[in-house]
Amino acid sequence: MSDALLDEFRKVVGAAGLVTDPQRTATYLSDWRGLFTGSALAVLRPASTHDVARVMEICTRANVAVVPQGGNTGLAAGATPVGLSRAIVLSLERMHGIRSLDAAGFTIAVDAGCVLAEVQRAAHDAQRLFPLSLAAEGSAQIGGLIATNAGGTAVLRYGSMRALVLGLEAVLPDGRILDGMRSLRKDNAGYDWKQLFIGSEGTLGVITGAVLRLFPRPRARATALVALACLDDAVALFGMVQEALGETLSACELFSERALALQCAHQPGLERPLAAHPWYLLIEAGSSLPGLREALESALATAMEHETIADAVLAETSTQRDALWRWREAITESERREGPSAKHDVSVAISDIPAFVSEASDAVEAAFPGTRVLAFGHLGDGNIHFNVLLAPGGNTASAQITAVVHHIVARFRGSITAEHGIGRYRRDDLVAHRSQVELALMRAIKSAVDPDGAMNPGALI
Ligand code: FAD
Ligand code: MLT
Ligand code: ZN
Repeated sequence: MSDALLDEFRKVVGAAGLVTDPQRTATYLSDWRGLFTGSALAVLRPASTHDVARVMEICTRANVAVVPQGGNTGLAAGATPVGLSRAIVLSLERMHGIRSLDAAGFTIAVDAGCVLAEVQRAAHDAQRLFPLSLAAEGSAQIGGLIATNAGGTAVLRYGSMRALVLGLEAVLPDGRILDGMRSLRKDNAGYDWKQLFIGSEGTLGVITGAVLRLFPRPRARATALVALACLDDAVALFGMVQEALGETLSACELFSERALALQCAHQPGLERPLAAHPWYLLIEAGSSLPGLREALESALATAMEHETIADAVLAETSTQRDALWRWREAITESERREGPSAKHDVSVAISDIPAFVSEASDAVEAAFPGTRVLAFGHLGDGNIHFNVLLAPGGNTASAQITAVVHHIVARFRGSITAEHGIGRYRRDDLVAHRSQVELALMRAIKSAVDPDGAMNPGALI
């Protein structure tokens, strides 16, 4: 990069906001899984929306591409500047303030670089709940979570990020600021443009702030880990607990014995919670009204009588609750420690989950000897992380495995990504799995908002 351009950036973001030292830029240049590594002219860390706007103006004028980055926990490599000769990484990490919290109106306004755990904490301190929850919540930022329309473990009750955003502030590629920081629950004044930015993966502009919905904080929670003989029983149990617990049911998370065993191998100190069974469901409900635990206990007792479940453990304390959740939350990290995998973030109709998992597992393990299917995820959302642990030295099979899995997903009329997004990891798959009309519409939106193609080239579309 020319010294003059660097000086221009420095004038806007200050010395603390400009990183060019390769030792410091390295962490911004590869993805969480370590699959992609890129390069950039510099990493810019602006401290305000106004500074983001000025950076964008400079980039447009100097023909520099922009790759927005939040906590860099994305699982689709959307924030990694791969194959770009003139690009900057624009990190939102210095924009981490909570702008305001309206407890009576159940809203919170935050900067895009605010880490999810901080938003949860601020809500909690105000006797409110911000329900989005996922294992990367200590690092993932609100901007990144919006840009990927993140899901997590409470979508069943509260919806994914799209359902939680009331207002948005974003900077367009040419530097104009779109100020939609409104706390309105009803607003039909024209196109709802903020929806375009939710799930846009940094390809339309830079999200700089958001107004988010808050909820009453449940005073009681009931959490159980249940062992099951087969996936048909898991789906049947989901129906039973939904009926019994109604809208208080907030999580119904699935994992296999293989996932549990993997954790025993990679997370020292974890003690197996139940004797080995093929599948487990982690079920949680929350409410401020009495009788929740009794309702869950009674639903599980009925399921036991019908032989739908094999065994179950209920958390007695919040420490036990945390320990049960750890079995679900630490799977991704254990998988990473185990070695390379082909990840599939698919969704199918909930009642199709048993048939899909069985068919896809048989197909993959037969065609690719030595691979091991690691299926887990958000059963209550029909979202299965159908990850495949690769055989030693089998990295090259990854694309072929994905073709087999996605082919079966298509037959079930499912989606090739339910929550992680397309990024760079699934870009070619998007083209194969969306119709020409849908792709043409996506391209039309992209070129209307980002005519020069400066925003995150190579990601999504
Ligand atoms: P990044 O990784 O930095 O970026 C992700 C994408 O958003 C990129 O395309 C980037 O360009 C864009 N982007 C980032 N910030 C902005 C911005 N301010 N403006 C415009 N574009 C931006 N995801 C789930 O949905 N559910 C889960 O349960 C889940 N569990 C996870 C568990 C682990 C252990 C890990 C490592 C990840 C998990 N993820 C999950 C994936 C990841 O946490 C989410 O995708 C998250 O939303 C990414 O946020 P981030 O701030 O890290 O974004
Ligand atoms: C999770 O739900 O834990 C992550 O989204 C899944 C993954 O690592 O594939
Ligand atoms: Zn997930």
